[in-house]
Amino acid sequence: METVIAIQGEVIARPVSMINHDLNTGEIEIMVQDLQVLNESRPVPLTVKDTCDAMDETRLKYRYLDLRRPSMQKNMLLRHRTAQCVRQFFTDQQFVEIETPFLMKSTPEGARDYLVPSRIHKGKFYALPQSPQLYKQILMVAGYDRYFQIVKCFRDEDLRADRQPEFTQIDVEMSFVEEDEVIHIMEQLMAYIFKEIRDISLETPFPRFTYSEIMTKYGSDRPDLRFDLQITDITDSAGKTDFRVFKETAADGGKIRGICLKGQGRLSRKQVDTLTDQVKDFGARGLVVIQVTEEGICSPIAKFLSESDIQDITQAFNAGIHDNIFIVADQENVCCDALSFLRHYLAKHYQLYDADRFVPFWVTDFPLLEWDPDEDRYVAMHHPFTSPKPEDVPLMDTHPDKIRARSYDLVVNGSEIAGGSIRIHQSGLQSRVLELLGIDADKAKRKFGFLIEALDYGAPPHGGIAFGFDRLVMMLANEESIREVIAFPKTTSAISLMDGCPSEVSSHQLKELGIKLNDNNQ
Ligand code: AMO
Repeated sequence: METVIAIQGEVIARPVSMINHDLNTGEIEIMVQDLQVLNESRPVPLTVKDTCDAMDETRLKYRYLDLRRPSMQKNMLLRHRTAQCVRQFFTDQQFVEIETPFLMKSTPEGARDYLVPSRIHKGKFYALPQSPQLYKQILMVAGYDRYFQIVKCFRDEDLRADRQPEFTQIDVEMSFVEEDEVIHIMEQLMAYIFKEIRDISLETPFPRFTYSEIMTKYGSDRPDLRFDLQITDITDSAGKTDFRVFKETAADGGKIRGICLKGQGRLSRKQVDTLTDQVKDFGARGLVVIQVTEEGICSPIAKFLSESDIQDITQAFNAGIHDNIFIVADQENVCCDALSFLRHYLAKHYQLYDADRFVPFWVTDFPLLEWDPDEDRYVAMHHPFTSPKPEDVPLMDTHPDKIRARSYDLVVNGSEIAGGSIRIHQSGLQSRVLELLGIDADKAKRKFGFLIEALDYGAPPHGGIAFGFDRLVMMLANEESIREVIAFPKTTSAISLMDGCPSEVSSHQLKELGIKLNDNNQ
C-alpha cells in the first residue's frame, strides 16, 4: 500500500464483462512488461481512503497521508478554486491586491498577539497581525481606494471548531463608501462564489436585522436561520401570574422568554431533565417546559397558573396540541444564551432544517462598546477604529453604552462569515473613542500615533470588511470544522502534531535575541 512504482507495458481493453464503470481506468488494463519500485512505503498508520476512521491526532500527525485522501484533495481543490474566484471577482471590480507586513506593530482586535522578538533591537518585539486593519486604513489614506487581500491573520485565542491560531481572511477596504455599498458588493461576491463553486443561486439582497432585533428574536448575534424557532417574550403577562419564579424575575427587571417546538408530542421525563441540565450550563436557574396535550397542558408549573394564564401563554406562543413550550426566566443575557442554545439543539435533534440550504443575512447597528468587567473598562465590540453612528455621537458624554456602531456582520447558517464597519476617518473623533476605551492621549500616541497622524493628511471616509476565508470554504465544502479545509492546521491546543511546533529553541538562539527564560520554563 502506498508504495510508488513505475510500470511500462501495453494498454489493452478489458473484456466487456470486466468493465468497471465505477473506476476511471475501469475500461483498460496494462499488461506490465517492466516494473520498478521507486519508493517502498512503510505500513501506513491510516487508510488513504475516504472511509478512513483514524483518530484526529493520527490524521494531523500524518497529514501528508491524510491529505492524500480523495475527500481532502477535493477540499484543497475547492479552496484553490474559491481563492481564484475571489481574485477574479475583485479584479473585475477594479480592486487591487496589496500585501501588508507580517512583522508589524501590535493591532488590537480583541485577541492576544503572537510576538516576534527582534534580534537587532533587543527587548523590542514585532507582533504578527491579528488582521491588516491599520494597514488597509492607511492604504485608503494613500489613495488605493479599492483594496483587497487574501491574507493570513494570527490570533492567540481559545480555539474551537471554527477558530485557528492562524487563519485566512479575504480582507477588503474601500474609500468614499457607506454601509450600503460595502454590503452590496459583498453580496455580489457571495452570489458569484456560490454560483461558481456550488452552482447555487443565492437570493440578493440578503435580509438585514439590527443587533437588538436579532438578539431579542434569536438570543444570539449569529443565529442559524435555516429554521425559525423564534423567541417570544412573555415578561409582561407571565410576570403577573402566581408562579413565584416568574413574578420575582419580572419584578427584578429580568425577562421571561421562551420558544415553542411544534408538533413533536410529549417529551419523556429524561428528555426534559437533560435539556434542563444543559441550559443550566448557560447560567439559567432552570427550564420550564409546558407540554400541550389533548387533555390540556402538562407542566410542573400548571398548578400555579389560572385558566386565563394558560390561555395567555399558549396564545403568545401560538401553541397547539403536540407542541412544547420551553421558558427561561432570568437576566436578559442568560435568557438569550440559554434559549439560543436550545434553538440550535432542538433544531438539530429534531432535524428541523434542510442541511443543504444556505441562509445568509446581515446584522447591523451593533453597540459600539461593551463593558469588560475583568478590565473594568469599555472595550470595542468590533474594533476601536469603527465609526459610531453620527446621530449617536452626542451619547459619548452621557450614555456610551447606548452608542450604535456603523458595523455589520454577515452570518450564514449560524456562523459569522464576515465582519466589518465604516471607520472613523477624523483624528479628533478617533482620539475621543480611544479615550472612551480608557486609552489616553499618551498611550494612543504610542500605540497608534501613526494612524492618528495619517488621518490628519486628507484621509477619505472609508470602510471595509473581512471574510473568514476558512469558514467560507468550510461551508462550501459542507464540512463541520475549518481543519478539514486547511492543509496544515493546528490542534485545539495550538500544536502542529506533524512538525511538533511550538518547540524549544537553542540557548544560542535565545542569547542572540537577548531573551532569558524563567527557571520554571527552562
Ligand atoms: P473580525 O475579527 O470580525 O474582523 O474577523 C473577520 C472574520 O474572520 C474570521 N475569523 C476567524 N476565522 C478562523 N479562526 C479565527 N481565529 C478567526 N477569527 C476571526 C471570522 C470573522 O468574521 N479587521 C476586522 C475586519 C474589518 O473591520 O474590516 C476583523 O479582523 O469569519
